[in-house]
Amino acid sequence: MISIEQARQILEKYQQQHILDYYDELNEHEKKSLLSQIERIDFSLLNALDTDNNSNSEKGKLKPLGAVEADEIAGCADEYFKTGIDAIRNGKVAAVLLAGGQGTRLGFDKPKGMFNIGINRELYIFECLINNLLDVVKKAEAWIPLYIMTSEKNNKDTIAFFEEKNYFGYNSEYICFFVQDMAPSVDFNGKIYMESKSEISISPNGNGGWFSSMVRAGLLKDIKERGIEWINVFAVDNVLQKIADPMFVGAVIQSGLQSGGKVVSKANANERVGVLCLEDDKPSIVEYYEMTDEMRTLLTEDGELAYRFGVILNYLFNVDKLEEICGNKMPVHVVKKKIPYMDENGSTVIPAKPNGYKFETLVLDMVHMQDSCLAYEVLRNKEFAPVKNAEGEDSVATARALLAENGIEL
Ligand code: UTP
Repeated sequence: MISIEQARQILEKYQQQHILDYYDELNEHEKKSLLSQIERIDFSLLNALDTDNNSNSEKGKLKPLGAVEADEIAGCADEYFKTGIDAIRNGKVAAVLLAGGQGTRLGFDKPKGMFNIGINRELYIFECLINNLLDVVKKAEAWIPLYIMTSEKNNKDTIAFFEEKNYFGYNSEYICFFVQDMAPSVDFNGKIYMESKSEISISPNGNGGWFSSMVRAGLLKDIKERGIEWINVFAVDNVLQKIADPMFVGAVIQSGLQSGGKVVSKANANERVGVLCLEDDKPSIVEYYEMTDEMRTLLTEDGELAYRFGVILNYLFNVDKLEEICGNKMPVHVVKKKIPYMDENGSTVIPAKPNGYKFETLVLDMVHMQDSCLAYEVLRNKEFAPVKNAEGEDSVATARALLAENGIEL
């Protein structure tokens, strides 16, 4: 652990000395805890406030990227399936569940995967995902390693839940949890907020650091020992998510491309979804708010939207490439948020409107670090039922309707 002098030096470098304002008042345990927080925080993220190393930096030259489309996939189904299922059976494919988010929009106080989406029976989000993975395990007659990323805030609850539910029938030897890194939250002047005299305000640092967090957790050795070559990364909130989908895996392997991303056709030009395209001839995801009106509405010769393939946070990455890019800097997204904090009187304030910034790196930026990416079109009513909000769009109700449409009893 770092000493108080070392902590002072770090904080001085980043002009955050106020973090130690109450240090002398703390008991020994609190002192240690504060020093260990200072040691673990990546302060260099703060540079994103005043340099170009953030997501607002200029985009390169954008061009549309075609996809292998649903009807074409149907025509090659047998071939893709065979290639994919062989790779899975030979232990070359693993899955990573990104479950470190805070799910603030859903407003559920436990990890999002613990949400019960059932109506007449219990059916948890985690359970839906495990069931989907079990479908593939049955077809492959082989277990698929599943790594689950949590954060310091939800790790204990997540593990306890899986244990209590007996891993929903999955083989626990093939499930491994790891914890992602945290980032500090700052006020609009870049000063880090404190939650109490001994606690720095921190939150999960986005889903972009999943692979480096795995490496730090010592899991690269496990990946290598198991002979894993491909990793399918996916979000916790899509209850229709197909995981380690043999057809997708097979299509990417057969394409000879370095990575793959599942996409759906945009419902209309203004749908708020990031699209997979080319940026300076490399695959890239452009967020809806980064697109000009012209890009949004541009049509192909066939009258379809040129930028029409929206991503659903389901990617297939190659382990060798992941290792190669692991140390590379990723763009930091600086996001305005409501951040609870301790004021100068020592009382906790829960702000009603955004009062500062959080820092996040995003998995979608990893796509631009790949030489190539296969856009693989799936049908949204079969594979895309995200639970983001309590009500309205992408909510519990819309996900339930889609589960029912796909024959899942609720
Ligand atoms: P979202 O962008 O939906 O963020 O995450 P969120 O934190 O879950 O939800 P809101 O925005 O607060 O409502 C997309 C996926 O990335 C994971 C989430 O768990 C989800 O599977 N994620 C997000 C992480 O694993 N870590 C993070 O730091 C952020």
